[in-house]
Amino acid sequence: MYLKTHVAERFGRAADQYKCHSQVQDQAAELLLQWLPHDLTKVPTLRCLDLGCGPGSQQGLLFEQLMWQERRQQHLEYVGLDLSAAMVQAAQRNLAHLQVNGSVVQGDGEALPLQRQSIDLIYSNMAMQWFNRPDLALAECARILTPSGYLLCSVVLPNSLAPLDQLLPNFVNPQRTFADWQQLIADSPLQLLASEVRQVSGHFRDCKALLKSISGVGADAMPAHHDAADDKKRLRLTKQMWAQLNAGYEGYRTPKGLPLHYHIGFFLLRSQ
Ligand SMILES: C[S@@+](CC[C@H](N)C(=O)[O-])C[C@H]1O[C@@H](n2cnc3c(N)ncnc32)[C@H](O)[C@@H]1O
Repeated sequence: MYLKTHVAERFGRAADQYKCHSQVQDQAAELLLQWLPHDLTKVPTLRCLDLGCGPGSQQGLLFEQLMWQERRQQHLEYVGLDLSAAMVQAAQRNLAHLQVNGSVVQGDGEALPLQRQSIDLIYSNMAMQWFNRPDLALAECARILTPSGYLLCSVVLPNSLAPLDQLLPNFVNPQRTFADWQQLIADSPLQLLASEVRQVSGHFRDCKALLKSISGVGADAMPAHHDAADDKKRLRLTKQMWAQLNAGYEGYRTPKGLPLHYHIGFFLLRSQ
């Protein structure tokens, strides 16, 4: 279980630098958008919710893909939603540059401040693994989706952050498995159309940059039985730990740099 104020605070702290460190999130977003359903073109005004939108980092790519599908910009209405006030502000600023109708609101994915059947597409990239009650979130998604609406989402799965998970086990939060997510979806009011596990990898020049790819996007909150002091302890490495980490990681170096592998679950769901 995560303390939501703590999650919002950690992500909020990263809002302004997020885009410098989001290479893994950007790759996952590209893969996720390959699953954008083509029949969304039939919807006269496409209302899209970006659930856990962060600083709006995927807005550009999302709009590009939707415009490609829709061709006409005025038919898109975007709502970004995030738990963190600082992320919401950053996403609002990003949206202002992009000339798309829309708004960004602060809210919780487990209790969406949106009306029943008001959204045609929910898009959520690497956010729902932070939810304590994804069952509530899926029920909420089903409530706000139109009868032919879609939920397109990606989540972080176990065995992510390899090989850091071996070298620095305290750094890595437990995750729900792919089977857990499939069961959650089977128990939800939504219908599963497609699902897949893919490996997505970031590459970094050194361990400092690699760890920064986690803390720099704000993804370093720990579950609620830890407190802020534990977080600090976890992130503060002694000289000896640094030396061990650097030496251990060098054994994994590739021509692209030091790797950090994620297992990501991709899901396409539909109202039923
Ligand atoms: C790793 S970021 C992903 C941001 C963006 N979707 C992307 O692909 O770059 C996860 C986001 O989920 C948000 N988040 C976490 N728990 C949430 C919740 N219960 N409701 C809404 N947003 C939440 C965080 O504040 C954070 O901005």
